[in-house]
Amino acid sequence: MDSIIKSQPTVVVIFGATGDLTWRKLVPAFYNLYLDGRLPDNFAIIGVGHRDISDADFRKKMHSGVDTFSRRGKSKKKEWEVFEQMLSYQRGDFTAKGTYDTVSKLIKKHEKEWGERSSHIFYMAVPPIYFETITTMLGATDMVNNRKTDRLVIEKPFGYDLDSAKQLNNLLHSMYDECQLYRIDHYLGKETVQNILAFRFANALFEPIWNRNYIEHVQITVSEKIGIENRGNYYELAGALRDMIQNHILQLMCLVAMEPPVSFNAEEVRNRKVDVMNAIRRIKPESVNKYAVRGQYGEGWTHGKKVKGYRQEPDVNEKSNVETYAAVKFYIDNWRWQGVPFYLRTGKRMNETTSMITIQFKNVPHQSFPDEAAGNWQPNRLVLNIQPHMDIRLRFQAKKPGLEMLLRPVDMIFDYNEEYSSGSPEAYETLLLDVMEGDSTLFMRADQVEASWDLLMPIIKMWKDNPATNFPNYAAGLQGPEEAEALIAKDGHNWMVPPAAPEKEK
Ligand code: BG6
Repeated sequence: MDSIIKSQPTVVVIFGATGDLTWRKLVPAFYNLYLDGRLPDNFAIIGVGHRDISDADFRKKMHSGVDTFSRRGKSKKKEWEVFEQMLSYQRGDFTAKGTYDTVSKLIKKHEKEWGERSSHIFYMAVPPIYFETITTMLGATDMVNNRKTDRLVIEKPFGYDLDSAKQLNNLLHSMYDECQLYRIDHYLGKETVQNILAFRFANALFEPIWNRNYIEHVQITVSEKIGIENRGNYYELAGALRDMIQNHILQLMCLVAMEPPVSFNAEEVRNRKVDVMNAIRRIKPESVNKYAVRGQYGEGWTHGKKVKGYRQEPDVNEKSNVETYAAVKFYIDNWRWQGVPFYLRTGKRMNETTSMITIQFKNVPHQSFPDEAAGNWQPNRLVLNIQPHMDIRLRFQAKKPGLEMLLRPVDMIFDYNEEYSSGSPEAYETLLLDVMEGDSTLFMRADQVEASWDLLMPIIKMWKDNPATNFPNYAAGLQGPEEAEALIAKDGHNWMVPPAAPEKEK
């Protein structure tokens, strides 16, 4: 194993410590970092929440989270017993100064023991209504005054629209340096997503054809079989556009479309991504219907079980006009991508759970083979499967074995699970380690967030001002609304679905 350089002593304070995110993702991720020897020797997590529970209760709850959600399965007794010593809990009202005084005392206690000041990381695992309060209260303390080592991690959604995102950025910038702010988008921590950069910029092969001369169109699909689960309160204020496209899917698009960075440096990589955002053509209000489609699921079937429609979910208005499906077509106005459509779509309660990027190449310029040979002919296609399949597939034509010249498509596949036996770290492991090490490459900078809101504002406004009249317009467990098929079909394409492999011929 490579020798590991550990971060300096660190205290992580999690606001929202009794919530789902801490239980399912954050503490299991820290636990795996501990098992991998990646935590600093002097390390502590202080959970802060509204509920009145003891350290022991908190540790017990976190233990169940690790046992249920850790990628390594159930924890081992000895290892857990060491790790749990790093966890403590503090009940606190986020609006009360006393809460921050207590946290400060707890941090100082650790530092006294360690004999040095530690890095302070404050994680906002709370609903966005608390962002302003917590960051303002913290900003008034000395816990965040070391610009080099004290950091804030802010979960999505960052803002509700362009104005609120700007307002939040302005507030944060009045108290913190941008280099202290880690706006998290967990998609960027996924192995397969990070690999897009490696695939594009560590190989010479694809770059010459990665442009409008060879690429016909690009599709990005993130579909989920699950509904909104128990997040009605959140989802009613979000919808698919805000929940997935504003952040995860636009980030994927930037990774596909960005220019090669000069170096793998946080500012350089983020600059190249912002360039893409700035070059994406703004959709005019009168054209929203031509470029964007929305949908909402009604009742249907999934996993052989009858499931509720969105409007019947808990905490959802029975006349809700919130979209659970969104598809958008964008163009990028620059030399590389002029005229190449990028189709993005996402939906809840779809027929498949999949995140995939398809690069569809153009036809060959001249078909040399007779029609009889080319019966099953398909243009080249590159599929980057993000999850749950983790692979990259390049489809090309090959001669079918036999006495005649018959062509058929085949796939060349790089499959993560076949290639590597060691499991990949979870996105949160990568991202939390990056925060501890002060590497913000995979985090959203203020201008990135604002640019992506800016891009979506015409759609958001149009949809708000013109409530859908046909909701629900797709049944749970199916492919989404018909209008989304039309969005892409009118350009002569269709949505790709996994598995991307061509059927084997006998
Ligand atoms: C979250 C969204 O950001 O991402 C959820 O709020 C969505 O609605 C989730 O289900 C998907 O993440 P993943 O990692 O499960 O694909």
